[in-house]
Amino acid sequence: MGAAISVTPSASVALEVSGLHKVFPGKRPVHAVTDVTFCVPAGDVIGLLGPNGAGKTTIIKCVLGLVRATSGVTRVFGAETSNHPGRVLSSAAAVLEGARNTYWRLTVWENVCFFASLHGVSARDPAHRRYFEGLLARFGLEGRLKTPVRELSTGLKQKVAVVSALARRTPLVFLDEPTLGLDVETAYELRRLLPELARDEGRTLVISSHDMHVVQAVCRRVVIMSGGRVIADDEVANLLALFRSRRYRLSMPGALPGDAVAGVRSLDAAARIEVEDGVTKLELQLPAAAALYRLMDLLRDAGVVVETIVQSEPDLEHAFLELVRRERERQ
Ligand SMILES: Nc1ncnc2c1ncn2[C@@H]1O[C@H](COP(=O)(O)OP(=O)(O)OP(=O)(O)O)[C@@H](O)[C@H]1O
Ligand SMILES: [Mg+2]
Repeated sequence: MGAAISVTPSASVALEVSGLHKVFPGKRPVHAVTDVTFCVPAGDVIGLLGPNGAGKTTIIKCVLGLVRATSGVTRVFGAETSNHPGRVLSSAAAVLEGARNTYWRLTVWENVCFFASLHGVSARDPAHRRYFEGLLARFGLEGRLKTPVRELSTGLKQKVAVVSALARRTPLVFLDEPTLGLDVETAYELRRLLPELARDEGRTLVISSHDMHVVQAVCRRVVIMSGGRVIADDEVANLLALFRSRRYRLSMPGALPGDAVAGVRSLDAAARIEVEDGVTKLELQLPAAAALYRLMDLLRDAGVVVETIVQSEPDLEHAFLELVRRERERQ
């Protein structure tokens, strides 16, 4: 049995990040990660979300020991990155954003075998070989085994990178922006495959992505980062519930008078107001359920007729944007 799969999870916690700080030194030091703490139970699928520069990739790199943490501790199945980098690398695989995790001159099959063999998972073992074949088939790459990676499209290259990381059979896998550059169909396939992997193989997945559809479909929990800090750490369902019942869409004939616009903005500064074919479409998030009365009052006082009003189903994207906006306002 290869080294990578002989690593049995020593604890039910796959990943612990505790009080992590990372400052990139320089003339103007960059506080990329500030006091980040979160924990991922084994078998869980979590999303790491945050705007550009929030610190997501830096956290992953600190965990893997690719970047040295300024302070704080990261552990993978109980092994601390600073004391046991080898143990960490043998139980965690990663597809890092924009990194060319594949050798373009090698074929698809050679890439998968090569990257797995670096970690002791050899295709000479029939069980591993079957696993690789199954994985490649799942990702629709079975007809491309002999194709050099450089001849593949961006999306297929990305799939080869993901398969090459998964072929190591590590219990923890980091996927940093796995759907970047993928077309809608391929991203959709990945959305279907990732939960399958977690379920069938009991793997723990940490997925960083700007693609909220992927995160909402795949992750049970999300850790949301902004400016290097964690601003939310909760189950997707709870975050959605937080914003449920307070998001409304209204349509009204004609343009909104200035005082109505001001009133709407006082309830939600980020309200969306669009006029289309002579109809004003308003979408807003109310600060409290009772604010709906205030909204109706102010529209009536401004002489506006409300034609329709519907409660929008919140999605993770709205929840995310709202949380990040509030955090920025707080600063
Ligand atoms: N090697 C480095 N040297 C200096 N600053 C860095 C380095 N790597 C990252 N940073 C800075 O650290 C901060 C966090 O970057 P990081 O790449 O972790 O963000 P991210 O959340 O992954 O963003 P994105 O969504 O764009 O991938 C940014 O301000 C970035 O410019
Ligand atoms: Mg990143």
